[in-house]
Amino acid sequence: MRFGCRCVHWLGRLISLAELTYGYPTTKYCCPTRSMAPTTLSRKRTSASPSQGLPRFKTFDDLEYDNIYGVWSVVVKVDVKFNADARGETQRFILMDISGSKIEAIAWEPNVQRFDALHSEGQCYTIHRVRFQPNLEEAFHFRSIGHPFECILRKDTTVENFSFPIQFPPFPTHLMPFHDVYRRPNMTFVDIAGVVVHRGELEHIGKVPYREFTLMDTRCNLLVVGVWAAQLNKHALNWSLAYADNAIVLGTMLKNNKIHGNIESSDHTVFNFNPIHPETLALQNLRHRVATGAMDLRFVRRYIENRWAYLATITKESVTNVTSSKPTIT
Ligand SMILES: *[C@@H]1O[C@H](CO)[C@@H](O)[C@H](O)[C@H]1NC(C)=O
Ligand SMILES: *[C@@H]1O[C@H](CO)[C@@H](O)[C@H](O)[C@H]1NC(C)=O
Ligand SMILES: *[C@@H]1O[C@H](CO)[C@@H](O)[C@H](O)[C@H]1NC(C)=O
Ligand SMILES: *[C@@H]1O[C@H](CO)[C@@H](O)[C@H](O)[C@H]1NC(C)=O
Repeated sequence: MRFGCRCVHWLGRLISLAELTYGYPTTKYCCPTRSMAPTTLSRKRTSASPSQGLPRFKTFDDLEYDNIYGVWSVVVKVDVKFNADARGETQRFILMDISGSKIEAIAWEPNVQRFDALHSEGQCYTIHRVRFQPNLEEAFHFRSIGHPFECILRKDTTVENFSFPIQFPPFPTHLMPFHDVYRRPNMTFVDIAGVVVHRGELEHIGKVPYREFTLMDTRCNLLVVGVWAAQLNKHALNWSLAYADNAIVLGTMLKNNKIHGNIESSDHTVFNFNPIHPETLALQNLRHRVATGAMDLRFVRRYIENRWAYLATITKESVTNVTSSKPTIT
């Protein structure tokens, strides 16, 4: 008997146990006490049932190359459901597992319609009989987020509501360091967190309000985050406080804009201010140094000035003439 789920997360263990005990999923698992059945009992029951029929669970951080040959079950929250592509041939989702790790899931014709009906954003599901394959985005296809693997929804994939009384993590586990963001392809999405070190003027781009905030990460790399009207208005007070207090801002599904050398809020973006997250703990110290003036921030000003100088050149020239879009810190 192989445990599909090796995650250290306790719910992962619970599911492995449930899987072992009863052949997950059944409605019994809604009651946590039933799942806490003694292990000896579990073992007896497993040996009595044929193991081939049982779903094998995977979490996205546990994937290995050998796993591409199997079919797997996953417990996920639909973090993002993209619109099907123009010809309705591809439907993409961003799925989050119970440990907060995300993966891109893709359905192709003729399965698009089926998954379109099944999934809705924010809902949790158990999905059976998915496959994983290496994400070869840079070589072949556009993919929305960076992950070594992607999840394939197939003809025989089935979807069930996930009825465990368990909260999924509010934020993704993995946030991308800024030096990796710089390398991400155009138009792809990233999840990041940083300390607010600068706020740009309120602009109107095609009459739509837009404002840029510059964030710093623990390596003192800088990233300009463009926030569009919807997200600005939704958190108007938080944004003004964020600038005054050098808040830690965590943003998800921010879209990479290679021409302008920044990332921007999208329809799928969620911002959080001073969140409790393992990866923002390290930012607390940075925030303190910035807020108390213990850090010389002149390089931030230079970075922003250089970026403006650079932007001035690309508005004059054809954008196709841009070779490098990341402003350099001098
Ligand atoms: C799954 O949950 C949704 C929303 O709670 C509900 O509308 C739907 O009927 C459920 N589907 C099944 C198969 O239980
Ligand atoms: C980035 O994507 C946009 C939108 O598709 C496109 O207009 C632009 O040319 C792309 N820029 C680069 C540098 O690839
Ligand atoms: C915005 O600020 C308020 C008050 O400090 C806080 O309760 C709320 O959680 C913040 N919103 C976000 C998205 O962090
Ligand atoms: C790009 O701009 C430079 C001047 O900055 C010019 O010399 C060059 O010919 C342009 N290239 C193209 C392909 O337009």
